[in-house]
Amino acid sequence: MKRIAIAVMGAFVAGGAFAAPDWSKVPPRQMKLFYPGQSSLEWIMSKADHSAVPDIVDKKRPCAKCHEGDANVIGDMIVAGKPVGSSKSVLEPTPPAGKVGWIPVTFQAAHDGDKIYFRFEWVPPKIGTKKLDLKNEVKLTMMFDGGGTVDGANLNGCWGTCHTDLRSMKDAKDDKKTKYIKGGDLAGGKFMDLIQFRSGKGEKPVDGYVTTERKMEGGKGLVKAEGKKEGNKWVVTFERNLAGGGTGDHAIGADKIYNFGFAIHEDYTNARFHYVSLGYQFGLDKANPDVRNYINVVKQ
Ligand code: HEC
Repeated sequence: MKRIAIAVMGAFVAGGAFAAPDWSKVPPRQMKLFYPGQSSLEWIMSKADHSAVPDIVDKKRPCAKCHEGDANVIGDMIVAGKPVGSSKSVLEPTPPAGKVGWIPVTFQAAHDGDKIYFRFEWVPPKIGTKKLDLKNEVKLTMMFDGGGTVDGANLNGCWGTCHTDLRSMKDAKDDKKTKYIKGGDLAGGKFMDLIQFRSGKGEKPVDGYVTTERKMEGGKGLVKAEGKKEGNKWVVTFERNLAGGGTGDHAIGADKIYNFGFAIHEDYTNARFHYVSLGYQFGLDKANPDVRNYINVVKQ
């Protein structure tokens, strides 16, 4: 009930003291979200499948370092069911007809000392015929760790939550099984905070987290998750208290660098049939010019 009250209040004062940042002043970051198929953590971290494993493990190379440029090519190959990786694996055994392999997304983030704001903009790809989620044309989900609290998230963003035994993945045994982190630990901070926008009528913003299982509630930090189609594009924004304060909420402070990734379920889809970002990082008012996949979130 409390969250509803806040949301209504937020709408009421829109344009007033708690207005969203002036996005025209926030530098945009272009990202390629691609169709990952069944490229689970287990596949990515298997040297027989992916020759980059020694670079990831020994040299700590982030996925983005090698794939920011070719994520579109990867998505196009996977969605078409073409063999990829050094093992020539088919990561999409049932290629969805007409689905594009990737979408360009413009990402922005800002804060005001009290809240952090995220904005995502993209042009929806062609709508197919298959509807897996009848309610929501679009879901946008962002996950972030507590500033280095989830092993590997600094390199791979969300991949630590994506496993080969999840529903719709290669070794699925349980069609209800959703994301988890091996050795996830809520008290120890080893979890990804999760916030989600859903476009369906009457749907509410989701504020959850992923530990040894995915929870779609418990958080109190998310103030708003809004989205609308503006002309031929989607614009989705999140407004989140830096402090967090609920179960599965990471506090966001100036002293740390946070690892994140996000996914867009376009075209009424669900489970793994989404577009995903590579792993990125953000920090508050901290330049980090040597790290390509880092975003400096500047105070407005
Ligand atoms: C050091 C560079 C490097 C890093 C880091 C890296 N990759 Fe790769 N990746 C490659 C290369 C090269 C291939 C081509 C196939 C091969 O050699 O295994 C590839 C292939 C892939 C493929 C299959 C598509 C294709 O073109 O064959 C996926 C999916 C993929 N990588 C995802 C990831 C993810 C996710 C991460 C981070 C956990 C990552 N990669 C980290 C170099 C890298």
